[in-house]
Amino acid sequence: MKNIIITGGAGFIGSHVVRLFVNKYPDYHIINVDKLTYAGNLANLKDIEDKPNYTFVKADICDFETIMGIFKKYNVDGVIHLAAESHVDRSIKDPFTFAQTNVMGTLSMLQAAKLTWEQIPEKWEGKRFYHISTDEVYGALEMTDPEGIEPPFTTKASSGKHHLAYGSKFFTEDLKYMPHSPYSASKASSDHFVRAFHDTYGMPTIVTNCSNNYGPYQFPEKLIPLFINNIRHRKPLPVYGKGENVRDWLYVEDHARAIDLIFHKGTIAETYNIGGFNEWKNIDIIKVVINTVDRLLGRKEGEDMDLITYVTDRAGHDMRYAIDSSKLQRELGWEPSLQFEEGIEKTVKWYLENQAWMDNITSGEYEKYYESMYGNR
Ligand code: NAD
Ligand code: TYD
Repeated sequence: MKNIIITGGAGFIGSHVVRLFVNKYPDYHIINVDKLTYAGNLANLKDIEDKPNYTFVKADICDFETIMGIFKKYNVDGVIHLAAESHVDRSIKDPFTFAQTNVMGTLSMLQAAKLTWEQIPEKWEGKRFYHISTDEVYGALEMTDPEGIEPPFTTKASSGKHHLAYGSKFFTEDLKYMPHSPYSASKASSDHFVRAFHDTYGMPTIVTNCSNNYGPYQFPEKLIPLFINNIRHRKPLPVYGKGENVRDWLYVEDHARAIDLIFHKGTIAETYNIGGFNEWKNIDIIKVVINTVDRLLGRKEGEDMDLITYVTDRAGHDMRYAIDSSKLQRELGWEPSLQFEEGIEKTVKWYLENQAWMDNITSGEYEKYYESMYGNR
């Protein structure tokens, strides 16, 4: 039996990873370590909470003594580290929390793993510390057009696959880190610590940097769930700036599949980029979401377009993110399984069918907090 800690398992991506591992590997013991911040929600794991190979431990990753205790108690073999503060807008208002959780919390996990694994005779053998990071550490890409063609143009990734792109450059694993937001700066710093633990102590680490995820159980402060819920209630849709910024979207279960594959087959000390080859301007994705919600609610398609409200841009708003994940395709054979149209349909359906999940989050304390942060929109 393998004992694996998954941190941040009550959050959006973490809950999909926990579900996948608990169901797929009955002989693993999955220990979900989560502080249950505003973003952590055990309702995300209702379907697996009674499984015999699953344990939930409420703990703060920054609390080093408690984390050491968890390593000792469960004889931990591997870590998949997702716990983090994850929302750029919050990091702009409160950078300290991001440095604390994302940097010091990661260091606390690393040090606990090191002190525990160093003491056993086989040391690093069979052990693995896998850190989940973001493409935002690479900074922002230009919207450029190499040959005078109006973007989006079709380009060819090094895997040979054609896809739409809004620029001629992509994030590859060898790029220098150029984070701009307090969120991405904190994630960049945590990535460096993870690599330093490999280079200094020989800890078997892996880092992956993934693009924007979407799908069920995402906290409704992020673009897609926030907008689905606002359209349902006919509330304004706050589009930052001109809505021209480009993000590369990946269905969350495809990310979880990549994490499973890399945890088991990835090469120690390597970095893998994970992305959807799926670039969209915010305004275009918003129109697709409006049409889909309207259709599924039996409204006239597009009748809620007038909810679009252009608001002041996010400070330091990165223009374009675009991942080149051909290394992962080439070396481990991973590809996104869902076309975006299918993924967005599944996602909208899920939020509309799980209104109780959404209402539970958007009522009460959270609503008050949201209004204090962003006003009543
Ligand atoms: P999320 O905000 O939905 O969930 C974060 C989880 O971490 C929550 O359950 C929260 O309670 C927990 N947590 C926060 N601080 C903690 C602490 N001090 N101790 C223990 N638990 C704590 O985040 P997400 O969107 O699921 O992202 C998960 C990871 O993936 C993060 O590391 C993020 O940087 C990375 N990532 C996210 C995306 C994305 O599009 N969402 C893309 C690439 C990478
Ligand atoms: P978000 O979901 O916050 O992810 P990230 O900033 O990590 O990419 O935002 C996705 C894009 O949508 C980003 O360009 C900011 C934009 N956005 C809006 O225009 N309005 C909103 O209310 C939110 C939350 C995001």
